Amino acid sequence: KILVLDFGSQTTQLIARRIRELSVYSEIKACFVSLKEIKDFQPKGIILSGGPASVYDEDSPKVDPALFDLGIPVLGICYGAQLMSYLLGGRVERSLKREFGFAEIELLKDSPFFKGLSLDQKYQVWMSHSDRVEALPPGFVAIARTNNSPYAAFTHEEKPLFAVQFHPEVVHTEIGKDLLRNFVFEICGCSQTWTMPSFIEKTVEEISIKIKPEEKVICALSGGIDSTVTALLVHRAIGDRLISVFVNNGLLRKGEAEEVLALMEGLGLKPVYVDASSLFLERLKGVVDPELKRKIIGETFIEVFEKKAQEFKGVKYLAQGTLYPDVIESCSFRGPSARIKSHHNVGGLPEKMQLKLIEPLRELFKDEVRKIAELLGLPKKIIWRQPFPGPGLAVRILGEVTTDKLAILREADAIVIEEMLASNWYYKVWQSFAVLLPVRTVGVMGDARTYDYVIAIRVVESQDAMTADWVRLPYDLLARISNRIINEVAGVNRVVYDISSKPPATIEWE
Ligand code: XMP
Repeated sequence: KILVLDFGSQTTQLIARRIRELSVYSEIKACFVSLKEIKDFQPKGIILSGGPASVYDEDSPKVDPALFDLGIPVLGICYGAQLMSYLLGGRVERSLKREFGFAEIELLKDSPFFKGLSLDQKYQVWMSHSDRVEALPPGFVAIARTNNSPYAAFTHEEKPLFAVQFHPEVVHTEIGKDLLRNFVFEICGCSQTWTMPSFIEKTVEEISIKIKPEEKVICALSGGIDSTVTALLVHRAIGDRLISVFVNNGLLRKGEAEEVLALMEGLGLKPVYVDASSLFLERLKGVVDPELKRKIIGETFIEVFEKKAQEFKGVKYLAQGTLYPDVIESCSFRGPSARIKSHHNVGGLPEKMQLKLIEPLRELFKDEVRKIAELLGLPKKIIWRQPFPGPGLAVRILGEVTTDKLAILREADAIVIEEMLASNWYYKVWQSFAVLLPVRTVGVMGDARTYDYVIAIRVVESQDAMTADWVRLPYDLLARISNRIINEVAGVNRVVYDISSKPPATIEWE
């Protein structure tokens, strides 16, 4: 396995993912972990990520230089390369000018790092740095250069230490995959044991050992990929000692509850169905504040779920679909970000119900979960389903949530989904949905004046929901969506398109 030490780069997670794509397990740890912890992890290789700091900053993150004497191969990337150079006696120059974008590198020497590549050819790489290495530490030689940096890549003459100023983990570096492959296999000698079929086998076995025969596990199914895959893995391990609960909060999309139940039954899960719509809607009566709505929905969910769980004897565990990006303790310089919106999942449940957690997806990235989903036979519809917020349509009905407004939004939203699917846009975007505004405007239909609601259409593209941009949909598609909503959904006479990016707007309107 390969250890990635994170120095705060935006692309640290990508490094780990690229290594895993080579079927080698890779884990990210914050840069400040101790040498002992690193040794205990027993990595076959260590990668130092990039990062925003400068090695000359007083509080910039460093590592114990003894790391380079463990005999474990180390690859420094960008800041990682500068740090390696700095700690081992090279010279790094501060530079206020950033080198950003494509550069052409020329390979200078044969090296196991360059296996399969040619010394006679130039290759495109992606640079993004301001400081740069000006003099190599003793014992090091340059193995690649660009017009701008004589030390684009360097290595120690005897020890297995390698460094690159550019970013091999991003797709713009055409030889990135080759370099990482060479590091992992030629230099570290890893073997390909991290595959999704073996992950499934290992996980199912672990769960079946961990849960004793008299114990039961409960989980909340939402119909999304994470909770579904979690449930399926646990179900494989312990069969019907898994109780899966599907709560209808009355805030779901058109036909969603029926559809999810049918899909789950097709997968052999037989979820317990709880229709709590009226309770949720009752509690939301008169509530306008977005955070209060979220809070009420979160608390009501916990209450309903807990009550249901108590009907079953012997429940000791709660299974949850937590993914790796949520558990990485990274060396982030962004600091704890302010709470913008309180996200509602099943947080708070385990303590309240005194349940132990099992989180079979804790080690996985989303693309790995998708692979497992495919192996477990989940339909494309679930695997590539767009994210849908826990509080459901409540955060897409601005102001008070009422049954009438839910009915309007459901119809409008169904038209958006239908048209996005029909035009092949649905799976190309991050999310596409309708929002019901608490505003009425004047219109004319036939010869009559109307005074009806406005629907906003929100379609965004994004990698991770942290940032997003609105999608430039073709006008004729927008026209079709708008025409259909105004003609088919009673109570709506105007449709607008949201052209704000995140930040400063957010994806959802509340
Ligand atoms: P925002 O609106 O903050 O949304 O830009 C970012 C992403 O998160 C989804 N979202 C939620 N997901 N529970 C969830 O599981 C929630 O309470 C919640 N609120 C927002 C949103 O749909 C988008 O993909």
